[in-house]
Amino acid sequence: MVDSSSKADAVALLDAVPLFSSLSKRQVNSIAATAVERTYKPGETIVKQGDKGIGFYLLLDGTADVLKTGSKVASLAKGQFFGEMALLDEQPRTAEVRASTAARCLVLSRWEFWGVVGKDPEVIRALLTETVRRLRSAGPGLSE
Ligand code: CMP
Repeated sequence: MVDSSSKADAVALLDAVPLFSSLSKRQVNSIAATAVERTYKPGETIVKQGDKGIGFYLLLDGTADVLKTGSKVASLAKGQFFGEMALLDEQPRTAEVRASTAARCLVLSRWEFWGVVGKDPEVIRALLTETVRRLRSAGPGLSE
């Protein structure tokens, strides 16, 4: 649970997350009220490749790198999300995500994630579009 001052802050930041642009004010308030906010130092690992996926992350502030077996494959900026893949297929994390600056994330549990995503077709569509883009970027196998 986040405290009330950062809750207002989290609501403002959540309004700027493209994935959730179709959600109502009430839904955004409810996410901000239940999700946990975490901060990371530059260079700190946020999720570890191979770990069990227990959370979904929204990057509220800062930037992060995505690394597969130690090599950088993508970078993520404020407003982007990660951690969806292991929640979708219930398999281990496909990559490490590491803060490249001081970073702040809102973390939704698996249960909260499905509560938000499972109820809104627009969120499902936005999530799938980005996930397919990530899978295509992972190698030629899917797009050829
Ligand atoms: P997950 O596998 O749960 O944990 C690692 C996360 O890194 C993954 O979910 C995605 O959110 C993210 N990720 C993996 N590959 C890419 C990629 N090519 N581009 C952007 N993000 C990625």
